[in-house]
Amino acid sequence: MTPPVPDHPTRDAGFGVYLHWPFCAAKCPYCDFNSHVRHAGVDEARFLAAFRAEIAHVAARVPGREVTSIFLGGGTPSLMRPETVAGLLDAVARHWNVVPGAEVTLEANPSSVEAGRFRGYRDAGVNRVSLGVQALDDASLKTLGRLHNAEEAFTAIRIAQSTFARTSFDLIYARPGQSPAAWRGELREAIDRAAEHLSLYQLTIEPGTPFFGLAAAGKLATPDEETGRALYDVTQEVCDAAGLPAYEISNHARPGAEARHNLLYWRYGEYAGIGPGAHGRLVTAEGRLGTVTERGPEAWLGQVEARGHGIAETETIDPGSQADEFLVMGLRLTEGIDPARYAALKGRPLDAGRIATLMEDGLLARREDGRIAATAAGAPVLNALVAELAK
Ligand SMILES: C[S@@+](CC[C@H](N)C(=O)[O-])C[C@H]1O[C@@H](n2cnc3c(N)ncnc32)[C@H](O)[C@@H]1O
Ligand code: SF4
Repeated sequence: MTPPVPDHPTRDAGFGVYLHWPFCAAKCPYCDFNSHVRHAGVDEARFLAAFRAEIAHVAARVPGREVTSIFLGGGTPSLMRPETVAGLLDAVARHWNVVPGAEVTLEANPSSVEAGRFRGYRDAGVNRVSLGVQALDDASLKTLGRLHNAEEAFTAIRIAQSTFARTSFDLIYARPGQSPAAWRGELREAIDRAAEHLSLYQLTIEPGTPFFGLAAAGKLATPDEETGRALYDVTQEVCDAAGLPAYEISNHARPGAEARHNLLYWRYGEYAGIGPGAHGRLVTAEGRLGTVTERGPEAWLGQVEARGHGIAETETIDPGSQADEFLVMGLRLTEGIDPARYAALKGRPLDAGRIATLMEDGLLARREDGRIAATAAGAPVLNALVAELAK
């Protein structure tokens, strides 16, 4: 008999499964995600067998869950054959109960979009696609080291929208030389093409990437802080006016079209992280566990083949740290957090005096439903806000 599912304060946020496909056709110079190029090709069948084994291992640890969302992320999952995607989704459904209407997202690069392949993903059970468009002009796409041009991005968007009812695309802004006026025009064009959801990320210069080296050598001029703030403000203004308000710092959607899987992270739900370098948060009788798997694709594969899983670290997250994680994630959301849940996790409520001061400073607001959320002024300084509240 399946043991009862342990209760926890954020259980209604759902249970998700994240599957990480760690391969790309080329490495973008700004990217520090766990993504690798394998010119000799990837043995998909062998990786699929390893994913199946790890899914079985994790499901034995957290049995009886109702899966509310699945996310195939990367890397570039759209490099997978549809049969591989079908095999992954089949393995999830074999071990857990996937609820009817569960959101199943696949991340895709415009350079690997083909109509036939997309239909294959849809037939496999994918019902939402997130496209890495990044920019709408050829010069910017070249600077970003992308393999597609703008025309190919538009074609990919059309194919995605004609195949899937739910689509999103990602853009990176605060790119070298980008002015707020140029971003305003680009964003408006993006919204004209977007169906229901956009992820808009400010370019971050990550240590260890080629962009980091170029920036350090003075060869890559990204917008200064003031321009960065102006670009952020343009983002909010244009999206609000178009009916795609932010529901999270970098994510915008028509009301009701929010990404359920991502909401689960920010609402501090439970999720399994499968595949190389994936993180999970599992609630067991021993408490909430943080898991992380081997990062290197071949190292992960070797571990799974040797012992049935590639989990490299498992830590029990103490209640205080759970409350802090809940706060860090939840305040990214426009809906904010329920302070009663914070108190349930932490064992004591948030400091009323600190809340009052942050409200007086205009950084925090209490909503009608009693939730606490960052204001428009608080959102850009979220880290400082969280650090103050969590003291
Ligand atoms: C890990 S990628 C996966 C999607 C897909 N491989 C692609 O690039 O199209 C997810 C998203 O993270 C964003 N991203 C990656 N590195 C970034 C950086 N340094 N700054 C801002 N956004 C970044 C990009 O918008 C990208 O679409
Ligand atoms: S395609 Fe996506 S995951 Fe791959 S290197 Fe580029 S940004 Fe990173």
